Amino acid sequence: MSDIHPVDPAFAAQARVRKGDYERMYAQSIQDPEGFWKEMSERLDWIVPPTKIKDVSFDPNNLHIRWYEDGQLNVSANCLDRHLDRHGDKTAIIFEGDDPGESRSITYRELHAEVCKFANTLKNLGVTKGDRVVIYLPMIPEAAVAMLACARIGAVHSVVFGGFSPDSLASRIADSGAKLIVTADEGCRGGKKIPLKANVDESLTRPRTNSVETVIVVRRTGGAINLQSPRDRWYHTLMEGQSADCAYEPMNAEDPLFTLYTSGSTGQPKGVLHTSGGYLVYTSLTHELTFDLREDDVYWCTADVGWITGHSYVVYGPLANAATVVMFDGVPNYPDFSRFWQVVDKHKVTLFYTAPTAIRALMREGDAPVKKTSRKSLRLLGTVGEPINPEAWNWYYRVVGEERCPIVDTWWQTETGGFLITPLPGATDLKPGSATLPFFGIVPAIVDAEGRRQEGACSGNLVITDSWPGQMRTVYGDHQRFIDTYFKTYPGNYFTGDGARRDEDGYYWITGRVDDVINVSGHRIGTAEVESALVAHPKVAEAAVVGCPHDIKGQGIYAFVTLVAGEMGSDELVRELIAGVRKEIGPIAAPDHLQWAPGLPKTRSGKIMRRILRKIAENQPDQLGDVSTLADPGVVKNLVEERLIK
Ligand code: PRX
Repeated sequence: MSDIHPVDPAFAAQARVRKGDYERMYAQSIQDPEGFWKEMSERLDWIVPPTKIKDVSFDPNNLHIRWYEDGQLNVSANCLDRHLDRHGDKTAIIFEGDDPGESRSITYRELHAEVCKFANTLKNLGVTKGDRVVIYLPMIPEAAVAMLACARIGAVHSVVFGGFSPDSLASRIADSGAKLIVTADEGCRGGKKIPLKANVDESLTRPRTNSVETVIVVRRTGGAINLQSPRDRWYHTLMEGQSADCAYEPMNAEDPLFTLYTSGSTGQPKGVLHTSGGYLVYTSLTHELTFDLREDDVYWCTADVGWITGHSYVVYGPLANAATVVMFDGVPNYPDFSRFWQVVDKHKVTLFYTAPTAIRALMREGDAPVKKTSRKSLRLLGTVGEPINPEAWNWYYRVVGEERCPIVDTWWQTETGGFLITPLPGATDLKPGSATLPFFGIVPAIVDAEGRRQEGACSGNLVITDSWPGQMRTVYGDHQRFIDTYFKTYPGNYFTGDGARRDEDGYYWITGRVDDVINVSGHRIGTAEVESALVAHPKVAEAAVVGCPHDIKGQGIYAFVTLVAGEMGSDELVRELIAGVRKEIGPIAAPDHLQWAPGLPKTRSGKIMRRILRKIAENQPDQLGDVSTLADPGVVKNLVEERLIK
């Protein structure tokens, strides 16, 4: 029996959605999706309100996903202009730098002016509707400004996380055909400098990046950089004298808003494309109801804008709701392990949203760094990115929230745009480790390997049976890949790539990825990408990468490497190979363990049996299952004996 935390009656009394409301609204959303989503669309300001609400088919032979297709709106106008009358002087962004001495606040009116000026800057540089713009910035307000300025003029942004290497950046530039890049001289995290501009320079020496005409550089640290004229321009110089008026572009609801690259089972990361109307309806609604947002809340989501959480729940959802958002450019342990809670106290944060990996890392330091802060302002906590183990959940609940704050464990994906399975804090009893129940309009199902739908309490693969407005629309430049990846495995359904269990109360428990994706600290790493970075080394013949348990990161990366004949493994070569992965992809993809494999377990047709490698990496050598179908069952014995986690 799992632990149950019933909804706190005092919380529920004030909440936007209460028990009973949830059941009623959920039933309505499923019985009459058109009516429900029409009503929900009215939360936005439309230039032309939609009359066609939903036109969807999940049939792989006739796949199409359209929401609000005859509506017109502008996302930046919805996040800014429409708030000016009532909320012009309200704080939109509280910026907190890496250095605890650095913070500033920006009102909605100021943010609007800055976005208009930057939109004019982009226009002057020849950026027009439909052009792609890469944003490679730290967690500074200029990142939100750049995103919203693109949205204002109809340019499609592609934010690349600042921790990605020049090679990863280059492949995203090449795939998107970006005309312009917005970056900073350097980033600064945990007291360390990140050479963002130098990384851009290096990426632009790579093939297929010559679409880039301009690089705009925000001065963040003042560190020395190389400015190449006429390509590279300072942000502050370009902004001088720009008008703070910029008419927004009327956009069709289905016009692209952004692409964001994410890893999958195979090949290069794919550009997940989100459109304008449905995405903003969905992110703003989920943000408001899941966080039970109120007028005077101070909301802090610790995710970087380089990930979907930063898009949907640092920028678009909260700003569409006229929320006050904390943007933090630091890390949880700098200058010390109290930092999160110091920031909570400093800015009187009421809603706090972070990842289980951060909670586990802080939990390891004990209660003292938390307890020396007040945290009285907090009224709700959230988690995202990976399953949260009940131990971490309980610590978060008991020590951080002092048993006063409900925890919303939000399950979703880059592809889903917003939360699909999540508690609503005034309506849903909580069970530590469960993302609980579906959001309005979401019909999850659990299927077995053959696609047969399971009923009642069961476990299997998680699919979603019908569309919701925030769903991705395509893989940028490769619609067939979109169909093949998500709609072919279980025809008629969207396949999430996750496994899940449903309990007797209908609660969902996400068990993790069932494909070749590893979830490291809440970040998706494709095994294929790490393998191709390893085999790029001339001494490597073959590599197979799987996930392994990791106390802090949730999952670590475990690599099995076969060297070319005649080469010998050494500690130095291990370091060299790991350095190669860091360089090729970025530090987040660096293997935690690298084991030499004289041979890899393969079927007679040559397919690597990852199931066996996973068990070895999980230190469960007695659960390898049937190895008799292997071409050479002997290779397993060596791998088991030499395993690195025992
Ligand atoms: O495996 C699930 C896990 O993260 C994956 C999505 O990763 P990404 O697209 O990078 O988006 C992360 C932020 C939404 C999912 O397929 N995941 C995300 N949230 C949870 C989770 N697993 C369990 N519980 C969650 N709350």
